Amino acid sequence: MKKVLVLGIESSCDETAAAVVADGRTILSNVIASQADFHRQFGGVVPEIASRMHLEAILPVIDQALAQANVTLDEIDVLAATQGPGLVGALLVGLTAAKGLALVTGKPLVGVQHIAGHMAANYLSDPELEPPFICLVVSGAHSHIVLVEGYEQYRILARTRDDAAGEAFDKIARAIGLGYPGGPLLDRAAQGGRSDAIVLPRTDFAGSLDFSFSGLKTAALNQLNRLQSIAARQNQTWQDLVPLTDFAASFQQAVVDVLIDHTLAAMKDHQIKRLVIAGGVAANSCLRRCLAERAAAENIRMTCPPLILCTDNAAMIAAAGYFAWRGGRRDDLSLNAVPSLDLDG
Ligand code: KG4
Ligand code: ZN
Repeated sequence: MKKVLVLGIESSCDETAAAVVADGRTILSNVIASQADFHRQFGGVVPEIASRMHLEAILPVIDQALAQANVTLDEIDVLAATQGPGLVGALLVGLTAAKGLALVTGKPLVGVQHIAGHMAANYLSDPELEPPFICLVVSGAHSHIVLVEGYEQYRILARTRDDAAGEAFDKIARAIGLGYPGGPLLDRAAQGGRSDAIVLPRTDFAGSLDFSFSGLKTAALNQLNRLQSIAARQNQTWQDLVPLTDFAASFQQAVVDVLIDHTLAAMKDHQIKRLVIAGGVAANSCLRRCLAERAAAENIRMTCPPLILCTDNAAMIAAAGYFAWRGGRRDDLSLNAVPSLDLDG
């Protein structure tokens, strides 16, 4: 039987991406044009510049995705694009490109929720994966524990009440002088560091698995200020008192401990033994290693996508788009970008 080919388009933040995926499971191409090098000089994504750079990149990236997949636009069956959440000007570029292609070709159009896209990366990396399972979604803007009951049925079991995990990584990385994007730099800096070098809190709420990272962030910044003032009095730098690698490892462990404890508690509550992870922070080496160890000890089968499918890409959007299309979802040309689009509507 002919496979259904989906062209996925992603432009919610600072990656312009297009990909072709067959039957929601097999990647034929996955092209990502990252703007990170450009935004680095500003220490974060500048939304207006991101939109302009998406505009320049979007058509060449789509052309490249089709060429690498060795297919023509005619052979594509479904067009899928990120509808939200994200930066509105950035989202509009990818979504409008998809709408334009839908208009000229008459092919079905599906808007994809970005977090559903991140979770669908797991359908690409594990072709056997089927709901139900639990997914820990940790990105620059979101930290969710989601019970995936069906391909289109999600129950959010926990979310962050303030900062997302990635946001906390990025802010502390900047404070300790690591630059942007902070998560991967902090991950690297923490390699071999002592994770008990500084004492940091783990926040829990009674009767809830929700996360909070702003208290941890403030505690880490307070520790840093304290070290800086002691060091200044002794004509030293704070790294002379606590090596940067130990500071980074301690902070990373505090984030990872909470993510793991809450996720395993959710697995127990719902008696689910299948776990996946998604989102940019799912690329974190400590999270991947520690969660795999703890899951194995509790007889939980855990898999995670390769790093390239954890951070923003369009293959995950094409995969999610395929399952939405298979479930009967069709959008028309009135589809609009929604900067705060939630997973549950
Ligand atoms: O999913 P993503 O690419 O974009 C959003 O949808 O937000 O996630 C980006 C986030 C950033 O905060 C980045 O610092 C973080 O993921 N990140 C990491 C790592 N790689 C990316 N955080 C910790 N360790 C990493 N290795
Ligand atoms: Zn993302």
